[in-house]
Amino acid sequence: LPEPYQEKHRPQFHFTPEAKWMNDPNGMFFYKGKYHLFYQYYPDSTVWGPMHWGHAESKDLVHWKHLPIALYPDSLGLIFSGGAVVDLNNTSKFGTKENPPIVATFTHHNLEGEKAETNNFQTQSIAYSLDEGVKWTKYGHNPVIPNTEGIKDFRDPKVVWHEKSQQWILVLAAYDKVKFYASPNLIDWTHLSDFGIDGDIRLWECPDLFPIKVEGSDEEKWALIVSIQKNAPNGGTASSYFIGDFDGKTFTSDVKKQKWLDWGADNYAFVTWNNIPKDDGRIIGIGWMSNWQYAQIVPTENWRSAMTLPRELKLTRSNADYHLISSPVKELQALRKDSTLISPFQVEDRHLLEASFSPSQFEIAMEIDLKETTAGSFGFELKNDLGENLVITFDKGGDMLYVDRTNSAKTKFSEDFFGKKHYAPLNYDEDTMNIQLFVDASSLEIFVNGGKLNFTDIFFPSEKFNTVSLFSQKGTWKIKDTKIYSLKGIWKP
Ligand code: FRU
Repeated sequence: LPEPYQEKHRPQFHFTPEAKWMNDPNGMFFYKGKYHLFYQYYPDSTVWGPMHWGHAESKDLVHWKHLPIALYPDSLGLIFSGGAVVDLNNTSKFGTKENPPIVATFTHHNLEGEKAETNNFQTQSIAYSLDEGVKWTKYGHNPVIPNTEGIKDFRDPKVVWHEKSQQWILVLAAYDKVKFYASPNLIDWTHLSDFGIDGDIRLWECPDLFPIKVEGSDEEKWALIVSIQKNAPNGGTASSYFIGDFDGKTFTSDVKKQKWLDWGADNYAFVTWNNIPKDDGRIIGIGWMSNWQYAQIVPTENWRSAMTLPRELKLTRSNADYHLISSPVKELQALRKDSTLISPFQVEDRHLLEASFSPSQFEIAMEIDLKETTAGSFGFELKNDLGENLVITFDKGGDMLYVDRTNSAKTKFSEDFFGKKHYAPLNYDEDTMNIQLFVDASSLEIFVNGGKLNFTDIFFPSEKFNTVSLFSQKGTWKIKDTKIYSLKGIWKP
């Protein structure tokens, strides 16, 4: 086997497990200068299996250190997704005020119960750690939320402290809705309310609830993130959100239909870190960079799946329309080396980007003058000598963004993966448009207009892409500034 992190398709500046299978990010919290990341992990194979919580920590959200597996399956079941909080006031009494416990909330998934076709094989349990998340003790009287209604899909509990009512609020996914619970101590939970939308019978997973200020004002709203396991805009699974209000009991949404947090096919189970210090004040989250449609058969050896880049979330408002924007965290700028600045130019037809950067590991930041740009489309093509390509098209005429990976590999391992060109609606009515684009071996992340639109797709060319060119069709595009950065890898500094 090749060295870990040197394998074909291995992202170099994204979080990946050293080996084996990973899915959702779990239990993220910040404490004592470190960001902790746990994740759904199966240490015995590169496909999904009995779930554990893997663990890693980072001082800067960029460089990660792997730590021992945090939670193992037990007699109550496998360890599915959930959250973790720092219980600063020791409300649970698992620790002391001087050394507050970290309390994880997770789902126990009982295999025997599932086989016996009972409907209550998923229950919510807790565990605590007194050493910053390394060693965990499961609570002796788990589960803390039994499955009394017999709901088959009843999982992924995440907790937030509700300042106004001075209690913990837990949100979990229950098939086609979410359920809210309250507790003074993280142990005794009372059901508060449910939230769902009429007519949406898709499976909901991995909810997250948090307060968020509207940019440039004091108005506070609540965001409810839900991941949806079916029929996302570009097929399969995706992360979505509602903006509304939460009064300590009920969530009321301002909209009838959720918005997509990311329009690409590969950002699932996106959730946020708890306990980020007030003087930092950011809301930061991360998603699993894959899609259940094909996650288990993508052509990587030795390990499977990466996380997205960590992203900062902000809430903007125009009239009554609230919108979550997400952009790569500023810490990622530390990865930049060898920048190339390209002065303004026009793209007519085709233009090869020549700079000293690797077309499989870079960042581009570009500003486009839309006033000076005639309609038609403009884009990027990443290509290798085998003719495989990945094409990103900004279609001003059609108000769309397209990402086409249908020809990105010879071996078409999944029709769901290669079948269709992906799209996202995009407005071109401002005077300028910013594009920030990250490519890392097998991943593409696009942030348009400061994160108003996010688009994440993965791809697996037979050989690395070795050229990047710009093209325009049926129009001339006026590019103002372009910066291209080579990016350092995070595993071998
Ligand atoms: C989402 C999910 C969760 C579940 C976990 C199991 O990707 O299906 O709902 O807890 O994965 O690994």
